[in-house]
Amino acid sequence: MIDKNNRRLLNDVEHLRGAYINPTDDEEICQTGKIFPIVLVRYCHKSIVSNNKDNIFLQGGMIMHYYQTIILKDGRSCTLRNGTSQDGRAALNNFIITHMQTDFLLSYPDEITFNEKDEADYLQKKADSTNEIEILADIDGKIVATAGISCVGDKVKTRHRCEFGISIDKEYWGLGVGGALTRACIECAKKAGYSQMELDVVADNESAISLYKKAGFVEYGRNPNGFLSRVTGRQELLLMRLELEEV
Ligand SMILES: CC(C)(COP(=O)(O)OP(=O)(O)OC[C@H]1O[C@@H](n2cnc3c(N)ncnc32)[C@H](O)[C@@H]1OP(=O)(O)O)[C@@H](O)C(=O)NCCC(=O)NCCS
Repeated sequence: MIDKNNRRLLNDVEHLRGAYINPTDDEEICQTGKIFPIVLVRYCHKSIVSNNKDNIFLQGGMIMHYYQTIILKDGRSCTLRNGTSQDGRAALNNFIITHMQTDFLLSYPDEITFNEKDEADYLQKKADSTNEIEILADIDGKIVATAGISCVGDKVKTRHRCEFGISIDKEYWGLGVGGALTRACIECAKKAGYSQMELDVVADNESAISLYKKAGFVEYGRNPNGFLSRVTGRQELLLMRLELEEV
């Protein structure tokens, strides 16, 4: 239960599993015994918003967290949750693996300039952010994918736009992780107040483009010389955007 008097820190997302905010009393957590997707902020305060009993949304320029358990196409359970400093090593390993497996991402593994500590700091900064998040997919204790949103720029003219990125360990492609992570990030982007989500994708990356189109992204331009691959030379980039309605 949230302490009404001192609005204490909600450090452990596990405390909120199976709980929802009663729409009629925005300061009350009601136990229901059911697990819901959760977008939450660490501090409880008066601007808690709850649209329906399937989601917990606590808003108002506060820290944003995410927690959801999904069942994959092969029947396995997968937890989607925001990363923290404790995930530095696992997230770095995932970054290295995914960047070895495909030529569709921005960098090569030998270009990595950050270490485990840097990754831990990065994840904690995201966990403490009001408008950015990095969500990890955890299957049986292994981080198999990451996805996140970053603000394009904090100026008045750009702070309505966020950028989306995603990568999944090849061993786990085709199981529904990508779709679930994309939907989770869209949900968070709306809650953070963005009105536009953007991404660049290599024009040959058919599975990613299919995923983005299904999520509602539309192409708004192309950069024919966007990437210069060591393997294939020029890679054309599709520029895609998704308009987000207010929630
Ligand atoms: C692209 C990527 C994110 C898809 O993730 P995934 O977990 O395999 O996707 P899902 O299983 O959730 O499938 C979601 C949708 O993606 C598309 N998709 C996935 N695999 C596909 C394939 N082999 N062929 C065509 N479309 C495919 C489909 O539209 C699918 O929807 P459906 O399940 O209704 O058919 C994943 O392949 C990946 O990380 N690739 C390497 C990194 C990368 O390219 N990142 C994007 C950079 S812009």
